[in-house]
Amino acid sequence: MIDPGIALETTLRDRVVPEQGRIPAFIFSDPTIYRVELERIFQRVWLFVAHVSEVPQRGDYVKRNMGEQTVIVAHGEDDMVRVFLNYCRHRGMELCRSELGNTSHFRCPYHGFTYSYTGALTGVPFQREAYVEGLERSALSLVEARVEMYQGLIFATWTLDGPSLHEYLGDIAWYLDVLVGRAEMEVVGPPQRWRVPTGWKLPSENFCSDAYHTAHTHASIVKLDLITGGTSFGASGYHVHSQNGHGLGLGTQAGADPPYPPEMRAEFEQRLSAPQLALLDRLKNLHGNVFPNLSFLIPTAIHLEGREVWSTTLRLWQPRSVDSTEVVSWCLVEKNAPDWWKRLSRQSYIETFGISGMFEQDDTENWESMTRNSRGALSRNGETDLNYTMGIGRAPMQDFAGPGVVYDGKYSEENARRFYRTWLDYMVAGS
Ligand code: FES
Ligand code: FE
Repeated sequence: MIDPGIALETTLRDRVVPEQGRIPAFIFSDPTIYRVELERIFQRVWLFVAHVSEVPQRGDYVKRNMGEQTVIVAHGEDDMVRVFLNYCRHRGMELCRSELGNTSHFRCPYHGFTYSYTGALTGVPFQREAYVEGLERSALSLVEARVEMYQGLIFATWTLDGPSLHEYLGDIAWYLDVLVGRAEMEVVGPPQRWRVPTGWKLPSENFCSDAYHTAHTHASIVKLDLITGGTSFGASGYHVHSQNGHGLGLGTQAGADPPYPPEMRAEFEQRLSAPQLALLDRLKNLHGNVFPNLSFLIPTAIHLEGREVWSTTLRLWQPRSVDSTEVVSWCLVEKNAPDWWKRLSRQSYIETFGISGMFEQDDTENWESMTRNSRGALSRNGETDLNYTMGIGRAPMQDFAGPGVVYDGKYSEENARRFYRTWLDYMVAGS
């Protein structure tokens, strides 16, 4: 347990030993740890905020979160996408209340300060009478985050002088090309949102690393005959991890037609390298996580109207409190795909990993239970540290066509160990 007399960093260094597969359960429910995560992780790293197709027109905006703080992602009149803290510089009111819209300016609901698409303070009601000595408007622009984009994914960070987004993504960028860069992608409507009574780490880690649970947790999907191949559908393939705690699992299959419309192939060929296209052609499923909380997924295809159909999803595990996470979940489709594919791909998303999807329900139950159990007294004294040793000692492959550290087979917790190593490094940085 966390001893109030010992520095948090000392406790963490002592108790969290990812390389030995030792993770204490208290990190999933301790309020102090959660507050430190918001400061040392969510205020430092690149965070996904929106897909570019959510703000296609000048004036479009969406309201999002970076950590617990809300931000405005705005497509300006100059075609720049900017991200502002949703915080009026007068008295801290939330400027923007609606989730999305189109506007030429943001006006504060409290006293009416008005900001332009560049974040400049352009309007102050009754300024001459109210500020007789003048008001330095230029010092009161909205607080702006640093923004970069990769394959239509808009990321923002409060760290103005850290690594570029591309440097931060590292080797996982190659796999994001396959996920969302294979074609021009667009979101299917606004994201679905729901709350899960768990912290943000368990689901992020699950998508990053855990193919092992699929055989048991998701066995019902096989019993319902929604997918073929038995309960070992999560076993074959590869695990990949890259710098900065990012990780993914690739399920592969040989000898089956890939479940995408043949009409799309020309665009895929244009945008992907030959090894990326070869991977897409034998892909069965793909799951992963960009540290800290952007997960992505192409679930195993399901039968719909006599076809095998898969979907592409992104989701943020948005921290709300130490044991509450808002899931923000997008379905993406290829913009130039035929209508039947867009319709069925969306249906596939809804039935598998949408808010009421069958897989989704299975997973949520697990995270909720583990979070509840991590609060118990026994889980705080070291006897019930969690076991993350699966796959320790295995050697990575030398001949995989993609970058990163790659392991053959998906029953491994190496990606999770890398996730918690990164987490730990941020949590103790500077101490
Ligand atoms: Fe925004 Fe006063 S708090 S104008
Ligand atoms: Fe799952």
